[in-house]
Parts: sequence; C-alpha cells; structure tokens
Amino acid sequence: MAHILLGITGSIAAFKACHLASDWSKQGHEVRVVMTAAAQEFVTPLTFSSLTHTPTRTSMFTAGLGSSDVADVPTRPLQIAHIADAKWADILVIAPASADIIAKIACGIADDQLTSTVLAYAEGPKILCPAMNVHMYANAVTQRNIATCKELGWTVVEPESGMLACGDAGKGRMEEPAGIEEAVDGLLLANRPDEDLPFKGLNVLVTAGPTQEPLDPVRFLTNHSTGKMGYALAETARDLGAHVTLVSGPVALEKPYGVDTVAVTTAQDMFDAVRSRFDNADITVMAAAVGDFRPVEQAADKIKKNGRSGIELELTSNPDILAWAGEHKRPDQTLCGFAMETRDLEANAAKKLNGKHCDMLVANNLRTPGAGFAADTNVVTVLTPGTDAESPVIEHWDRMGKGALAQRLLDRLAAMRAEDGRR
Ligand code: CTP
Repeated sequence: MAHILLGITGSIAAFKACHLASDWSKQGHEVRVVMTAAAQEFVTPLTFSSLTHTPTRTSMFTAGLGSSDVADVPTRPLQIAHIADAKWADILVIAPASADIIAKIACGIADDQLTSTVLAYAEGPKILCPAMNVHMYANAVTQRNIATCKELGWTVVEPESGMLACGDAGKGRMEEPAGIEEAVDGLLLANRPDEDLPFKGLNVLVTAGPTQEPLDPVRFLTNHSTGKMGYALAETARDLGAHVTLVSGPVALEKPYGVDTVAVTTAQDMFDAVRSRFDNADITVMAAAVGDFRPVEQAADKIKKNGRSGIELELTSNPDILAWAGEHKRPDQTLCGFAMETRDLEANAAKKLNGKHCDMLVANNLRTPGAGFAADTNVVTVLTPGTDAESPVIEHWDRMGKGALAQRLLDRLAAMRAEDGRR
C-alpha cells in the first residue's frame, strides 16, 4: 500500500478530491492532504482529516514549524512538515490543480505549505490534474506552464470537456476520480522497486473469456465464461512486473490498466491474435473457454422461421489454440492450459496436459461448488508432467478466490522456470 500525498487547490472540483481521499483510504493506502488557502474556501480541512484519519496540512506556521499537527512525524526538534511529507510520499497528486499552482510549480515558487512541499518533493512520481475555466486553460501562458511541468517530470491528467461551473462550456473540467485513481495506480506500478517485481522483463500472454461464433447477423454460439479467471491472471502478472498481453473474448469486465488488451470475438480471431504474439511470450496461460465448433455457414441475413418446425445446424471444428501453442513452443517458453470438465476430471485433464504439450494444466469441475464460470472462487486440480506421460503429478488445491489462485499459479510457473534455469 502506498503513501499518497494529495495537494488540493482552489477550485470547485475540490469536492472530487473528497472521493479520492475516501477511496484511497478505503483501499488501504495512507493519505496525507495539503490544502491551499483557496482550497479551504471550497472544502474544509476537517473533511479530509476525517476521511484520512490524519490532520490536514493547511499552513506552514499554524503549529510552530508545522510539526506538532503532523501525525507520524517524529517529534524531534526541527522535523518540518513539508520536508517530512515530501520524504514520506510515494506519489504526489495535485487534484484539483488550479492555473495558479501550475504557474507556481513551473516557476519553483514556494510561498505556502503546498508549494513548499512540492519543491521539497524532488524525486518520485507526481501527477497534476488541472481544473479551471476553459479560457484560463487554453491561455498560452497556462499551456506553457503545463508544458514546463511535463518537462519537470509531472504527469498531467488532462481535463475533460463539458459544462463548467462558471457556465462556460469547453475543456477544463477535472477528470473524474476513477480516471485519476487509474493514473495513480499506473504510476505507482511503474515506479515500484525492482525487488518487488519477480516477473520484471517477462512477457506474459493470457487468453480469457468466451468466444462467439456467429450463425447469422443476430445470433451466435457461445458459453458461460465471464473471463474472471483470465483477467485475474493478467492483473496478477502485471502486478508482479510482467509485460502482459490479454487476448479477450467478449466479457463485461473493465479492461485492466497497464495491460495490452486485444479484444476478439471468434475462436479464429483469438487464434490469429495468439499466433502473432506467441513467439514473444515467455509464459502463456490459456484460460479462455474457446468454442470448439462454429457454424459451417454464416447466414448473411437473419435466419427466418418460415413455418419450419426446426432446423439443422452444421458445425465445423475451430482451431485448437492451446494445442497449436504446445506444438510450436520453444524450450524456453512455458505453457499453461485450463480444462473445464464435468466428469473424469483427472483422466481428461491428463490427456490434455500430454496431448497439448503443456507445462501445467489447471482443471476444474463445473459441478464442484465454488468452481466454474461466473464464480469469484475456484477449486482446481493442478497437473504437471511426471516421469512419464501416464503419470502426471496431480495436486488438489482447496477452494480460493480467483485472485489468490492466479497468484499461486503464477508463483508455481515462476518456480518451474527457475528450476529449469529458464527464469
Ligand atoms: N482451447 C483452445 N482452443 C480450443 C479449445 C480449447 O485453446 N479450440 C484451450 C482452452 O483455452 C483451455 C484448454 O484448451 O486452456 C482446454 O479447453 P477445454 O474446453 O477444457 O477442452 P477441449 O480441449 O476443448 O476438449 P473437450 O472440449 O473435448 O473437453
């Protein structure tokens, strides 16, 4: 969990900063808030002290050197709050950032608690979220100051266009909290120390979700996959430091930040997307529920009843993507497949492990409580190659959340690679 230093300046968008402070605190981050005098005209310091359980910093001089009102800052003499906060922070976010603070940052002015903290925060990720009137934003001097801030290492979360509080319409409305939180998450990830990133430098390819095989412009064949397992794997691999490509069938999940997501519809699309990326992948995990068959013909127009009591569909096989990957994988590549079974789990899964040349196969039985498509948990049997094809190593794992399972599977794949000297 991160130390987030949130600077708030004078803008009506300060109300959105309440959501930021609240969300981050709930997510387990530690948040300290620094407000300018103008910000306090819009929202009170008490609001943020209550949301963050930490005194809000408002002035350089209200409490001696600013030390006695600062939680967690040791009470040694001359612990100065703006210096201590700048050292404490993992990331500095100014939201909303008025034209005034942007100009001061661009010039290096340090005339209050926030600007002094900004100047003392020499290194580390920092984000500006401008909020102002459309003309103030478009003004050449503001644009010049923003460009200077970018040169100084600030990430700028561009404001949106829309109706502004002043009645004008145009660009100047601060990005919504969700967008700012995503930018913060991305920067925190990108700035993690290397020792926290066991997958740094690895390319991980994940397939997820169902495929849809169209019958006509209105209908398709599909399955109940929601993509949750594959998305959990992609997000976990990203959090471990990997570069992740997620090839996803149609699902209702948000695209994960920091992951290259390739949206596909049919099994053939998924095959094409995987085939062109497979060479680059160190680890490939295929969690997608790929449709095994597609209609031989796709009707150009809606298939009509025309008084018929039924119709016959002729289906043909789709490519088996995992089997293709198993045939083409190099010794330095690691391949993990999934298997969804309703009976004879171990025997069927062992066939898939061997037949598709996987390094690991993760099998689950649709009928087991807590396993299956839409659940947030899974109960899996993990198979790895044994001494001969007939005797794989079989482990039964207890029910766990899909996130925890993703972590454990990736840990196991990394350990297998380390044992073989593959890293
Ligand atoms: N798979 C694939 N391409 C297919 C079918 C399956 O890549 N056309 C992959 C899945 O992503 C999964 C694994 O193969 O990793 C096993 O999928 P599953 O549906 O359990 O088994 P099938 O191989 O399709 O065999 P069956 O339907 O006969 O059980």
